[in-house]
Amino acid sequence: MNYENLRIEQADHILFVTIDREKALNALNRKTVEELKHFFTQDAPKRSDYQGIILTGAGHRSFVAGADIKEFLGLDAKRGAALSKAGQEVFLAIERFPRPVLAAVNGFALGGGCELAMACHLRVASENAKFGQPEVKLGIIPGYGGTQRLVQYVGKTKAMELMLTGDMISAAEAMELGLVNYVLPQDDIMDKAKELIHKIGAQGPIAVAKVIESVNAYFEAGTDGYAKEVEAFGATTGTEDFKEGASAFVEKRVPDFKGR
Ligand code: CAA
Repeated sequence: MNYENLRIEQADHILFVTIDREKALNALNRKTVEELKHFFTQDAPKRSDYQGIILTGAGHRSFVAGADIKEFLGLDAKRGAALSKAGQEVFLAIERFPRPVLAAVNGFALGGGCELAMACHLRVASENAKFGQPEVKLGIIPGYGGTQRLVQYVGKTKAMELMLTGDMISAAEAMELGLVNYVLPQDDIMDKAKELIHKIGAQGPIAVAKVIESVNAYFEAGTDGYAKEVEAFGATTGTEDFKEGASAFVEKRVPDFKGR
């Protein structure tokens, strides 16, 4: 696929995905959501020479300022539900992606932007970042998983307040609430993001994928997370990586994981 709104670059064993609609504060129009879908379901799974993905927004003001409101004007109930379902599917693919996906939140993360950051496994925010689910101000509700994931991250009390008022919070408040992993000056967020991906990249890749799968299971209705953990633990103990990890520990050397 020729990406129009995503800039994809590879360096230092990391895939960098930049949402590139700076004039619209990187708002997610339909095309961008389609491109994210293609990237996370077709493109990235076929590549193997990278440790993780860093997702960010172009410029220094905004990560993603939400779904593209200008495209909302012709929506009716049926099309609205379809748009929500399509977005949710993409964000679920990100959440279930077997390699670490980190949001480098370099400014506004509002509406669909906050939802996108929450679908990632980790979030490093710049000090100027602002988070919020302002959809009620438009007379709608969060539609890309926000009503579910914000509760998971910050608890019902604060999630309810944020979604009912539409208020924005600062990066510092997001940190206090447990919505982000780190808050740093804008110029430092990429270094921290890379450091985290490299740290995870040095671990056993199958174990990393199984941690993601098992933690996600906690939040999946109808899934027994403990049973998932038993299955995933069993799967990791049967890998060459486990033999290598355990041998390396005993031999006091750095393990050389192969992802097998
Ligand atoms: N959709 C489309 N365009 C957007 C946008 C969005 N979500 N957010 C910003 N833009 C555009 C503006 O229209 C403007 O474009 P023009 O210059 O062509 O008019 C440009 O980006 C710059 O924005 P502002 O002039 O508004 O910049 P500001 O600094 O005054 O304000 C802001 C920044 C507070 C982020 C403000 O732009 C804003 O409130 N944006 C909308 C945020 C929002 O409501 N997001 C939720 C969308 S709905 C959603 O996401 C639903 C869902 O869950 C799926």
